[in-house]
Amino acid sequence: MKKQTIIVTGASSGIGKEIARHFLEKGDNVVINSSSAEKLEKVYKELGGGENLAMVAGNVKYKSTGEKLLAMAVEKFGSADVLVNNAGIYETKPFLEVDEAYLDQFLNTNLKGTFFTTQAIIPQMIKQHDGVIINIGTPLVNHALGGAPSTAPLASKGAIHSLTLQLAAEFGNDNIRVNTIAPGVIRTPMHGKNADAGAGLHLLNRVGEVEDVAEMVYAVAKSNFINGAIINVDGGMAAGHNLN
Ligand SMILES: NC(=O)c1ccc[n+]([C@@H]2O[C@H](COP(=O)([O-])OP(=O)(O)OC[C@H]3O[C@@H](n4cnc5c(N)ncnc54)[C@H](OP(=O)(O)O)[C@@H]3O)[C@@H](O)[C@H]2O)c1
Repeated sequence: MKKQTIIVTGASSGIGKEIARHFLEKGDNVVINSSSAEKLEKVYKELGGGENLAMVAGNVKYKSTGEKLLAMAVEKFGSADVLVNNAGIYETKPFLEVDEAYLDQFLNTNLKGTFFTTQAIIPQMIKQHDGVIINIGTPLVNHALGGAPSTAPLASKGAIHSLTLQLAAEFGNDNIRVNTIAPGVIRTPMHGKNADAGAGLHLLNRVGEVEDVAEMVYAVAKSNFINGAIINVDGGMAAGHNLN
């Protein structure tokens, strides 16, 4: 299988860290990112700090972070083949309590982070006539839960789903595939110790693990014809619930 260079944002924790580990184990090159340099350096060491690994700290809301990620990938490994826009935040707050500053946090990290990091990397993929963008969304954009008031994060994630289709349309002729993977509740630090409380939201009556998402990201990266797709990795959450 062709060795690829993968850029993973938000890789100092949870799903992003596992995606980085998965590709490294399979022999690919990986450039990891998160906004906290301290957290990122710790994970860089945890992942072995080997020749196939590089890191760039920075907030994804700035296009300059994406440009630095691209420079690192190209200088160290010679290409930028896969971008995983994983950096993201989620919290609940009732709609009427959301003010502009709160909404902006989600628009900045989730939407602008995905938008501008992609904008920084795509010119290189056009030059290569080859590239894969994988965004991380959520089935909740089409599946509302009254008990989890989350208009701010979901407005930003819904935009990522739309962006996915439009980018796939604009860059298909450049052999660039753009997809979104939408995980159900996954056991990560985002949920603290409460992840299992969400088990009944899934038809499998259990939450997902970071490996479940990393395996799908890997499959999409290595595939040849998956494009413009929203792929649920959600234990059946979008189909229904196992609540009694
Ligand atoms: N866990 C779930 O149940 C679930 C379900 C559906 C979708 N997702 C999505 O999956 C992705 C990963 O979630 P997770 O559960 O793994 O969360 P997590 O454990 O909290 O990790 C989030 C990562 O994003 C980084 N990050 C946050 N803001 C950033 C910014 N502005 N710039 C750069 N990096 C930033 C964090 O590092 P720093 O703190 O160092 O910045 C961290 O590495 C998110 O997009 C999330 O919305 C998660």
